[in-house]
Amino acid sequence: MAECDGNHKSCSSKDTCSRNALEIQDAKIKGNMGKIKHKIAILSGKGGVGKSTVTVNLAAVLSSMGKKVGILDGDIHGPNIPKMLGVEDIQPYADENGIYPVTTPEGIKVISISYFLPNKDTPVLWRGPKISGALRQFLSDVVWGDLDYLLIDTPPGTGDIQITLLQSIPDIDGVVIVTTPEEVAILDAKKSIMMAKTTNTPILGIIENMGGFVCPHCGEVVDIFGKGGGERAANELNVDFLGRIPLDIKAREASDRGVPMVSLDCTASEEFKKIVEKIIKKLK
Ligand SMILES: Nc1ncnc2c1ncn2[C@@H]1O[C@H](COP(=O)(O)OP(=O)(O)OP(=O)(O)O)[C@@H](O)[C@H]1O
Ligand SMILES: [Mg+2]
Repeated sequence: MAECDGNHKSCSSKDTCSRNALEIQDAKIKGNMGKIKHKIAILSGKGGVGKSTVTVNLAAVLSSMGKKVGILDGDIHGPNIPKMLGVEDIQPYADENGIYPVTTPEGIKVISISYFLPNKDTPVLWRGPKISGALRQFLSDVVWGDLDYLLIDTPPGTGDIQITLLQSIPDIDGVVIVTTPEEVAILDAKKSIMMAKTTNTPILGIIENMGGFVCPHCGEVVDIFGKGGGERAANELNVDFLGRIPLDIKAREASDRGVPMVSLDCTASEEFKKIVEKIIKKLK
């Protein structure tokens, strides 16, 4: 009997077939992800703390260092990455080899569910299994090529999407947890850390975002959400503290225009560069 191709045309029956479609897809994911040196997921417990912002800026710094970088936008219900990188109106190309990610002017490869929706305002009304299927297809069927880094943006929380990604990506290097400094965000960040530990995923560290406000007049950093919450949580949970990004109005405006904040001369961009250095060092 010929080897089954997953469509069960060459085997006797779908029920008795020894190689089911999931196994075949797992093998495809392994091959595809095996070409990528480092895979890092960006997580947070609480929404709106800056995961997508962190993802695009880490990618932009890595790309400016000459690394080959991709971003998988794993936020199926709130896909923001194409807009944040100014590539929401470009369509990915597909052929018999798979789906080719969109490339930004900086050379960052991007794939997002937003490219496959009829228009920008269409909500994705899918339940868990369909969402997991789409994410696994991004891992198996997207032609990422030989990347140095694949950064994976995720929605907030510890649900289906995060579990699917952490369990489906072979040899994932680890997760970066983003939090804001206030108590409620820290409480939720601890849950993301526990999820990473439960799934045996390494934790690269915590980034505290919006830790302080950069005064647009004098450039000084003022603490409005409290101070040092991210670092305290990192110490308490015995994970590394990667750095603190201040809240910067200029940076938010740039993000809305589809420009990563690291391309501006601002406090946040210096911090992102230091964080990337730490991550690279850890991965060595
Ligand atoms: N350090 C910062 N300075 C200024 N604005 C920021 C900063 N970090 C994030 N923002 C802004 O805050 C908003 C929320 O950030 P972002 O979308 O990255 O959060 P998120 O955690 O990805 O949200 P979600 O949970 O909805 O996916 C965005 O408008 C972004 O531009
Ligand atoms: Mg986001």
